[in-house]
Amino acid sequence: MKKIPVILDGDPGHDDAIAWVLANSRPELDILAVTTVGGNQTLAKTTYNAGRILSLIGLNVPLAGGRSKPLLADLIVAPGVHGVTGLDGPELPEPARDVVEEEAVELMARLLEKSDVPIVLVPTGPLTNIASLLLLRPDLKEKIDHIYMMGGGITKGNWTAAAEFNILVDPEAADIVFRSGVPVTMAGLDVTEQALVRPEDIERINSVGNDVARIVAGWLEFFYQFHQPLGYEGAPVHDAVAIVAMVRPELLKMREMYVEVELQGDYTRGATVGDYYGLLGQKPNATCIMDIDREAFIELLIESVASYGEGAAK
Ligand code: BDR
Ligand code: CA
Repeated sequence: MKKIPVILDGDPGHDDAIAWVLANSRPELDILAVTTVGGNQTLAKTTYNAGRILSLIGLNVPLAGGRSKPLLADLIVAPGVHGVTGLDGPELPEPARDVVEEEAVELMARLLEKSDVPIVLVPTGPLTNIASLLLLRPDLKEKIDHIYMMGGGITKGNWTAAAEFNILVDPEAADIVFRSGVPVTMAGLDVTEQALVRPEDIERINSVGNDVARIVAGWLEFFYQFHQPLGYEGAPVHDAVAIVAMVRPELLKMREMYVEVELQGDYTRGATVGDYYGLLGQKPNATCIMDIDREAFIELLIESVASYGEGAAK
């Protein structure tokens, strides 16, 4: 089987962590590197968390820290959602390896440059690293096969009434990505808030019984405790939907759309304004995921944690 070469870029984060657990369990993916960005927490914390996740799942690839601050805006962090560490909850192993000396954008550029085939980028945090790459090395655009990202929402926001967290943190970066001409698949809140892992599903995941399963269940429990008082029936595992789009697209409903990122707006900065009915006459620049088969998604997560067998590593 020809594997899809991917670079995972995120700000872990409970749902980033679960996305990476899922990605690492999929035989069709070849994870070349993991990079981090400031977002859910400061860059130092998200990078440390990434190291701990890689240890847990036995993923032995270069880990590079990226941009600590958005292109123009001040960093917003989300301790209320992910805790002071950015990944509060179950105890995790310490990072097994140091981060590489190269900065994330340099590492991505080098991997793209030397690859014979285009590479897929999967950002699940603010888009600062990806936009910086596109700004610094526009010559490498052709080497990016596709960007599968979590962020935005055609119909709603979660950090302001109009804006989703990842896009709100760095709207200028998101604008660069949507205008880049690189194929973009957007897992926005429209679908990710349907990717709910309910208490009974958390129990099933926990009962798989290996270390990864127990820790994933602990992350979900932590995440659910934040979301439950807001009326959610489960933990929305936003970032994992970007992985589902690559490995099981048949579980999703998607719609091609022209999407603009609002950079001004008294109430709407950071909104992803999707031309759902094609009223602007512009060519679509994104495939927006709108729906998911939730039950099949849960089975996929269970299959994923079960693949880690006994012990921590796959
Ligand atoms: C996004 O924001 C972060 O809190 C999550 O990790 C996810 O990437 C959801 O709005
Ligand atoms: Ca994230």
